[in-house]
Amino acid sequence: MKNKTYWNLRAKKNKKKIKSTTNFNLIKDLEISILKHLFKKYLKSKNLRILELGCGNGINLVELKKKFSKFDFVGIDYSEEMIKYAKENSKNIEFYVGDITNTNLYDKFSKFDLIFTNRCLINLKSDNKIKLSIKRAQNVLKKNGYFVFLENFRDGHKNQNKLRNILNLKNRKVAKFNKFLDEKKFKTLLSKNFKILENENYSSLNDLLLYVLTPNNSFKINYNSKLQKKLILLLTHFLNKNKYMMRLNYNSGQNNLIVCKKK
Ligand SMILES: C[S@@+](CC[C@H](N)C(=O)[O-])C[C@H]1O[C@@H](n2cnc3c(N)ncnc32)[C@H](O)[C@@H]1O
Repeated sequence: MKNKTYWNLRAKKNKKKIKSTTNFNLIKDLEISILKHLFKKYLKSKNLRILELGCGNGINLVELKKKFSKFDFVGIDYSEEMIKYAKENSKNIEFYVGDITNTNLYDKFSKFDLIFTNRCLINLKSDNKIKLSIKRAQNVLKKNGYFVFLENFRDGHKNQNKLRNILNLKNRKVAKFNKFLDEKKFKTLLSKNFKILENENYSSLNDLLLYVLTPNNSFKINYNSKLQKKLILLLTHFLNKNKYMMRLNYNSGQNNLIVCKKK
């Protein structure tokens, strides 16, 4: 099955729900808290323009619009079904169907102050396509604008499997429709046109609990355990109230946050 068909079917089934884009509802709370935290930290003026690439059914943008109502938000996704439900989710955000690897996708847009991706580049499954989509998007990013990535990386995933193996759990495989990024290669790609400001393995503590400590067998993951809920509450609480990202020193999370600034 083609990736696009997969996402269309998922949106058709789960409509406006978080389930359309992830199996793990709680991680969305953390991702949205991280985005809000970054917006407060870096975006000091009003009336800024924000773009999400691969916005799915628009949940990130809907939550951000509630908090930053003066900003203009635009979301692009190649799944017609995702965009259909994104439009139902909000009338104050512009949503468009489009493939982020396409050449003339951005012709109609004026420039943005911040562009972000959240578990979207992993779907492209090719270094060349990732390179192309970043190159295209950076042309609609203002000078000194921010490019933010919340993506999955092989490095943390490998470490996570190392820990699972010590506890006699089998390796977790990456889903067929994803290819996790290589951190070193990705940072080299970015460094040509961007200054990297932050690189955080933000899910290290979360993934240690979810994928290493709580599973009783190799295949079953409990995305909704009481412990997991408590941990997400702690993580989001510290971010929201203390602007502090609770982290674990061992790089065991499969998700990194990379913030960079266009040179
Ligand atoms: C895991 S979902 C994440 C959705 C959203 N970013 C979020 O965090 O809720 C990945 C999304 O990327 C979209 N996507 C994948 N490849 C794409 C492409 N080449 N162009 C545009 N969107 C794409 C999929 O349709 C899907 O909605």
